[in-house]
Amino acid sequence: MTRKDPATPCPILIVEDDPAILELLEEELQEAGHATLGAASAEEAIATLSHTPVALVISDVRLPGMSGLALLEQLRAENSALGFIVITAFGTIDQAVEALKLGADDFLTKPLDLETVREAVYRVLEHRRLAERFRQNGPPGHFHGIIGESEPMQALFHDAARLAKSDAPILVLGESGTGKELLARAIHAESPRAENPFVAVNCASIPAELMESEFFGHVKGAFTGASDHRQGLFQSARGGSLFLDEIGEMLPGLQAKLLRALQEKTVRPVGGEREEPVDVRIIAATHRDLEQEIEAGQFRSDLFYRLETFSLRIPPLREREGDLERLIAALIDKHADAQEKPIESIEPAALQALLAYGYPGNVRELENAIMRAVTLADSGEIRHADLPERLREQAEASRRESGEALSDNLATGLSTQAATQASIQAWPRLEEVEDRYIRKVLEATGGNKRRTADILGIARRTLYRRLDDS
Ligand SMILES: Nc1ncnc2c1ncn2[C@@H]1O[C@H](COP(=O)(O)OP(=O)(O)OP(=O)(O)O)[C@@H](O)[C@H]1O
Ligand SMILES: [Mg+2]
Repeated sequence: MTRKDPATPCPILIVEDDPAILELLEEELQEAGHATLGAASAEEAIATLSHTPVALVISDVRLPGMSGLALLEQLRAENSALGFIVITAFGTIDQAVEALKLGADDFLTKPLDLETVREAVYRVLEHRRLAERFRQNGPPGHFHGIIGESEPMQALFHDAARLAKSDAPILVLGESGTGKELLARAIHAESPRAENPFVAVNCASIPAELMESEFFGHVKGAFTGASDHRQGLFQSARGGSLFLDEIGEMLPGLQAKLLRALQEKTVRPVGGEREEPVDVRIIAATHRDLEQEIEAGQFRSDLFYRLETFSLRIPPLREREGDLERLIAALIDKHADAQEKPIESIEPAALQALLAYGYPGNVRELENAIMRAVTLADSGEIRHADLPERLREQAEASRRESGEALSDNLATGLSTQAATQASIQAWPRLEEVEDRYIRKVLEATGGNKRRTADILGIARRTLYRRLDDS
């Protein structure tokens, strides 16, 4: 999944009285995909802000008239949540400290290093965006707490809501950690049975010899140790829903009894003489391929077809374009709340890694990573170093890969859609692109250095040096 470009539709306002620096900053940020506005003084900036929405202000401290710090102070006094980066002169640490005290998000020191500028802008915009997310209570597009604005999740919610109204059994399919149990609970909550019990049972956790009595109950004296009449899970869920998790683990003998319960709407307790009516809605789930289980003789096909009539497949996280960011913000919020820890920010590298990772374990894996980082956070910040190692490593690898793919495209003169959409952060250094291009031409000339130098329009000496260096 590619990282969303941090550029916002609102422009960045740069307040700088030196026209050369203003131009340089505007150019740099425009190249990074941002819209910019310039102001030569704080007064001009205030005038602009009165009529134009802005994402972020970058202001020099020393300005003619009102200072950059006074501008910051005024904006914060007006309760503005605008991002604000201060540019201080070299060697004026007191100014930087003052700026941060007044509520600046960051400061940059002159002479400006453009890469640092880009990074600071990215970081501040990203922080602001997350903060905005945090403020939103219950993000839009969720279904009983299941977050998902992506197209496949919206379609799933739509189907789930429709099925919830009926009494038909439902089979929930999906890879591990995709939210199968969450969906089962949501269906129950959406159904007319919402006021009655929701009983969840993991079929894998019940010992084979106890399964039948656990499900259907038993009568007194049914077997050694059955000293009393006992209700089963079916009876406990009466009027409500019974969630059979890991249905693929259910023993074939019991599968036949379950099918019977579904068809006749009655169950017979172990040792009992009579069938008892039960009004229960069954929601079953599995991460297994049941058709394969049927072939292997582990699952009854008649039960499968009965359950499969209404099945809902939860897409893996990697197919939910756009949901990852929202999930990250919501899960940080959830665990910050649960642990009563104020989390105010996230390191850009941490966010990048979280966005770049592939999540074979889906939302559960994401949630575990976030829970861990929240637990380890001691300064109100989610840190890159606190993320699981495999997540950091894979993110780094995919960052490198997308950089290489991009430079390949540039080197062959093919600027594909994919290349332009690749994350700006992952773009390689110019030198790296040149090196790749040089190597490509060298390859194409069969290693002929003179021709390569001619094609590249550089001196042979330069070519030798570049080949030595790279
Ligand atoms: N879309 C979502 N929005 C918010 N939280 C989610 C979402 N999907 C899953 N979760 C959270 O992720 C965790 C795993 O979800 P759940 O237990 O429902 O998955 P599962 O598919 O049953 O997993 P497994 O196959 O491992 O049993 C839970 O803590 C759940 O709250
Ligand atoms: Mg589960």
